[in-house]
Formats: sequence, C-alpha cells, structure tokens
Amino acid sequence: MLKRIDVVTLFPEWMQGLAELGLTGRALADGKLDYRCWNPRDYAVGVHRSVDDRPYGGGPGMVMRPDPLANLLDDLKQQTGPAVISYLGPQGRRLDHAGVTELAGRERLVLLCGRYEGIDQRLLDSQIDEEWSIGDYVLSGGEPAAAVVIDAVLRLQPGVLGHEQSAVEDSFVAGLLDCPHYTRPETWRDQAVPAVLLSGDHEKIRQWRLAQALHRTRRLRPDLMAGRELSRDERKALEAWPEEQAEPASRAD
Ligand code: ADE
Repeated sequence: MLKRIDVVTLFPEWMQGLAELGLTGRALADGKLDYRCWNPRDYAVGVHRSVDDRPYGGGPGMVMRPDPLANLLDDLKQQTGPAVISYLGPQGRRLDHAGVTELAGRERLVLLCGRYEGIDQRLLDSQIDEEWSIGDYVLSGGEPAAAVVIDAVLRLQPGVLGHEQSAVEDSFVAGLLDCPHYTRPETWRDQAVPAVLLSGDHEKIRQWRLAQALHRTRRLRPDLMAGRELSRDERKALEAWPEEQAEPASRAD
C-alpha cells in the first residue's frame, strides 16, 4: 500500500490541482498518504540558477541540466529515505493495468517529470531506476503522465474509491473492458434501460454484465481476447446472453 508520492517537477502548480480536486484530492488530503512536489529550480546553482541549457551539438529546444536534478534527488533521498526513481518519458515501459497494479503495490513512488527536449542523458543513466510511458506520443512534459499514474494507482488503494467493489469490477481487472452502465431516467429519449437491470435478480444482473463485457471486448479489443481462455462462469454467461445487447435498450413506444 502506498504511503507517499513525491513528484519532481518544474511546474508544481500543474500537479497541485490533483491534490485539491476529486478522488485524488480526497485521497491525498485525508492524510493517509504523503504527497509532495519538489522543484529543481530550488536546487539550481550559479548566478543564473538555470535548470536548462542549449543542447551540445546544436538543435532546437532546451535540455534540463543534470546538476539541479541530482542535488534535488540527493536531498529527497536524504529527507525521505531510499527510493526507486521513476522517470516519465516516451521511451519507457508502456503503462497498462499490470503496470499500474505493480506501482500501486509499492510503498512509495518518486515520479520525475522532464520538460523541454528532455533531460541530460548522464542524469538519466546514473539516477533513474526505470522509465514509464503512457503511450506512443510525445507530451511537452512528464506532468500529465505523472497525473495519469497517480490517478490510476490511487484508485487501487484500499479505501480510496469508497465502494471497494468498483475497482474490482473496473475495466481490465479481469482482462476485459467494462460493461455498460445506466442510471435514471428509466427511459430517456425513447431509450429504455435494459430490463434485466430492473429485475432485482442480482445473479442474473451479474451474469448479464459479464456477458456484455465479453461481447464488448471481443468487438472493440479483440487483442485482449486472443489466447485468453474463458472461465466456466464466462462460458455460462455467454450461453445465457449470447448476443451483444442481448437485452437491448428497448425502444419505448
Ligand atoms: N513525457 C513525454 N512524453 C511522454 C509519454 N508519452 N509518456 C510519459 N511521459 C512522457
């Protein structure tokens, strides 16, 4: 279970919203978890106290200098103890549910956000333990990726979602996409909620939801189904509800 998250960022304001709003805000505010941002600017030296400079060899943009970051990481470890340093960058291991589960199971996270064209390679080679990417595209900084990681890992912490079952029933937990969800009104713009959801038969509803998740995954993400054995329970659900939207949102005439 996570006890603390440290984020190294030139834009702590960017990360602040996370600590103030919604689920992450509640989780970070309730005191069970320490959350702190560290700004390399506070560790810059020299007259200009610069955190970035032009790339050797030429080229566009600026590169983050290694020295402020190294000073910061030394201080961070001295103040908070040993830590795995995780860099957010497009060359990293692609984040998926297994990765989120792995990170969520740790005691602490130190997320290092880069800016500009990147970070001096010598810092990465000597101070970084791992790199995580949130997808095959380039962000202008690691902050949105750090926010994604924090949101996803916090949802898996006991007590954070309120309704413990929610995380268990999430998409990807069983390697499947989520089932569709409905709420009031019972009929909206001529579309009624599937009748099974109003039946009060919890086992039938569970089976229907499982069947919908299986149909949806097969249709939208066949890659997730490839080589995946169906459990007995899943086979039974598909037998009971063989068609997608087997109980369609029937049109109210
Ligand atoms: N920083 C820049 N691009 C990124 C990406 N795709 N994932 C994580 N961090 C990044």
